[in-house]
Amino acid sequence: MVGDFISLLDFSPDEIVGLLDFAELLKRQHKEGIQHHLLEGKVLAMIFEKPSLRTRLTFQIGMFQLGGHAVLIDTQLGQRESVPDVARNLERWVDGIMARTYRHEHVLQLAEHASVPVINALTDKLHPCQILADAQVLREHRGGDFSSLKLAFVGDGNNVFHSWAEFAARLPLNLSLVCPPGYEPDPQILAQTRAEARGTIEVTHDIETGLKDADAVYTDVWASMGQEEEAAAREKIFSPYQVNAAMMALARRDALFMHCLPAHRGSEVTDEVIDSPHSIVFDQAENRLHAQKAVLATLMRG
Ligand code: CP
Ligand code: NVA
Repeated sequence: MVGDFISLLDFSPDEIVGLLDFAELLKRQHKEGIQHHLLEGKVLAMIFEKPSLRTRLTFQIGMFQLGGHAVLIDTQLGQRESVPDVARNLERWVDGIMARTYRHEHVLQLAEHASVPVINALTDKLHPCQILADAQVLREHRGGDFSSLKLAFVGDGNNVFHSWAEFAARLPLNLSLVCPPGYEPDPQILAQTRAEARGTIEVTHDIETGLKDADAVYTDVWASMGQEEEAAAREKIFSPYQVNAAMMALARRDALFMHCLPAHRGSEVTDEVIDSPHSIVFDQAENRLHAQKAVLATLMRG
């Protein structure tokens, strides 16, 4: 297994399933009160260029539950000193680095120049920790046979969708993106993930086509962090793509509703949908803890 967690494409299908199995075990042990101090005395540095609730808390709590510590750096990389120099400093003190950055290249540079594991906690391009946790939730609700599932992602072809496409390039999930024209995913990521896809990866502007037979309907904010200036324009463009009861009715009757959170209630999703019994958004948030502990313990042990 590679030493960093930056993109799901860096892992084999067996390695991804192994991480999901490990996350499941850690969750079960935690619920049973069994301590697992797999990272006793180890320290994780957490770099945040962008806001966070879930990622920040779950990495910090995860390190605590693994017997280690997390230290926080709120900064903009590349301004006070070069990213390679940040990496060369951190590797002298800590056993792992977690980074949430704007530029994906900055996480790649940290990984290149630090001898300790680097974990991608969201960049403008990818959000692999989210999708690992989400896959764990899907397994809990629908079993581990992803080939029997269709996930319809409604909204922007953004970092969260990109990581779903990378997941579908490794495990046989059927993925459909329903987006407004002009908001398709990165063409390079789409071409590569489609070439390697184990299931199907469909991109459509047609809501009925995208939602047809979907077992899970996923959405995310219309303007991601860093796109705040576009928020008003996007609000108009994306409004036909709001996940509301009428849209959910186009999917399977028992379709799950998923969202990485934070949600903009009344924009990309209505209260009725996010608060419905089919919504598993807080299960997703819960599993961020367990999935990331599996990543941390796998990369930082030894
Ligand atoms: N889903 C997610 O990454 O949440 P935060 O931005 O709060 O970390
Ligand atoms: N696409 C969103 C995800 C937030 C967890 C963003 O990048 O802001």
